[in-house]
Amino acid sequence: MSDIDVQFCEILPEKIRIQPFTMVVFGGTGDLSKKKLLPTLYHLCIDQDLPEEFSIICFASSERTDEDYREFVREAIEEFSEGTVNWGCWENFREHLFYLPGNFDDEESYRRLSVRLEEITRPTDMGTREIIYYMAVAPEFLPRIIERLSLCKLCKGVFNTRLIVEKPFGRDKVSAAELNRLIGRAFDEDQIYRIDHYLGKETVQNILFFRFANSIFEPLWNRRYIDQVQITVAESIGIEGRARFYEKAGVIRDIVQNHMMQLTSLVAMEPPIGFEADSIRDEKVKVYRTIRQMDIEYIDRFTVRGQYGVGGIDVQDVPGYREEKDVSPDSKAPTFFAGKFYIDNWRWAGVPFYLRTGKRLKKRTTEISIHFRQPPLKLFSTTCEIREPNLLALRVQPDEEISLHIGVKYPGIGKQLYPVNMNFNYERDFTGDVHFPLPYERLLLDCMKGDQTLFARQDEVEAMWAVVDPIIRRWEETPAPEFPNYAAGTWGPAEAYELMQSEGRQWRVW
Ligand SMILES: NC(=O)c1ccc[n+]([C@@H]2O[C@H](COP(=O)([O-])OP(=O)(O)OC[C@H]3O[C@@H](n4cnc5c(N)ncnc54)[C@H](OP(=O)(O)O)[C@@H]3O)[C@@H](O)[C@H]2O)c1
Repeated sequence: MSDIDVQFCEILPEKIRIQPFTMVVFGGTGDLSKKKLLPTLYHLCIDQDLPEEFSIICFASSERTDEDYREFVREAIEEFSEGTVNWGCWENFREHLFYLPGNFDDEESYRRLSVRLEEITRPTDMGTREIIYYMAVAPEFLPRIIERLSLCKLCKGVFNTRLIVEKPFGRDKVSAAELNRLIGRAFDEDQIYRIDHYLGKETVQNILFFRFANSIFEPLWNRRYIDQVQITVAESIGIEGRARFYEKAGVIRDIVQNHMMQLTSLVAMEPPIGFEADSIRDEKVKVYRTIRQMDIEYIDRFTVRGQYGVGGIDVQDVPGYREEKDVSPDSKAPTFFAGKFYIDNWRWAGVPFYLRTGKRLKKRTTEISIHFRQPPLKLFSTTCEIREPNLLALRVQPDEEISLHIGVKYPGIGKQLYPVNMNFNYERDFTGDVHFPLPYERLLLDCMKGDQTLFARQDEVEAMWAVVDPIIRRWEETPAPEFPNYAAGTWGPAEAYELMQSEGRQWRVW
């Protein structure tokens, strides 16, 4: 597409230049930093997205020097960057990396941080000094770090600061609200960036463009034409050494409360009045608030939980969840969720949203599928029974694509209706020098620019918890005796199939 002279419209009126900044990475030696954050920051440097003056300070507990940390970062980039690493920017990048050994509980460490910030941070064009605090730490550390930053007057005042907070944000609505209050005492809402890397994915952002820029779909986007919506976030990986987190969290806190709720709201929301952060977030919150609250009877009937047992993925034997390192042998943590949701508003009344996610499922696939109603097919009823009504599939991973399944006449003298696909694929259709930012790349740049659109707002997080809290509570009150109840490498427990079959429907499989 790049070699065709296409005129396109950019929503942002101007490109914003990133101003000098210092990023303090609390937990800059941890798993997330190694795998995602540090390789992404390096990527931004290669792409020349970073300003000349920037600094990255890692605040962590082990004793290291700046030089040790630079070596640590080099190894992380080597191991975790996607594709072959371009080292062209390394000599420049490494000079911007610093290490501050300290303890999250120790006030003295924050005083040393304050001195370091004074020394390192360079002014912007406007004379301000910008600091981004990235909380790459276990959630229990968050309150202590914020309190100490506040005590040392590092939240507001001398520096312009922003705070990036990782998921999970709380364990339920009450704790999320408490965390919001605590952070809110130190930072204003426009300084807080609650990150969900799903929102950095191209196809996820494209949902809004696709829906609202194409007049052929928007008139159909409602209960009159749509029979059901399915959202699947299927992972073929297990818990990847994160037992400590997963045993406490389980599948709903890990995936449903954040990624799946975000996908649901983007599919279901009303058109925002503009592309500003709050216009979009206002509409998303309305969706969460109109999702029907589930009572116990409904949860028992219309949600399915599962935990994987031993099985095989791509002809390789894999252990069951309870055999994973640091998992209790009688763990009750669910690794699979399926459920039917209703959004009780004018647009969606009566349309079921089926959500399904799990670990160690057959294939890694994230997809939203919009299943349209059957046409009144009297015309064809004597020759065939249509089993595949029109379906629009928005694929988020592994491929980023959109396909529309339609029925056509099968060639020949007969009168057969045949299902075919019309397909758009990001990688295939945008070639040449088109750049596909990685999710963290996009989100970090947005934070550096001060754009909060792709970050969750305080009320948004609490509203998402309010949807899933009753399910988590019910499941925790009645631990599943039947675990493990699906083999790794399948599409989940039999009850998930039954849930759909009892409604005359089927899950999508690939
Ligand atoms: N890992 C992922 O793939 C992933 C994905 C999505 C979200 N997240 C979220 O990201 C956050 C970080 O997770 P993670 O897996 O990266 O954690 P992690 O591997 O346990 O890293 C913890 C970091 O905190 C530092 N630390 C621990 N205790 C400290 C203390 N008392 N004082 C100073 N430093 C201390 C460690 O420093 P030392 O090494 O020097 O001790 C290390 O840098 C969590 O909220 C997690 O839920 C993680």
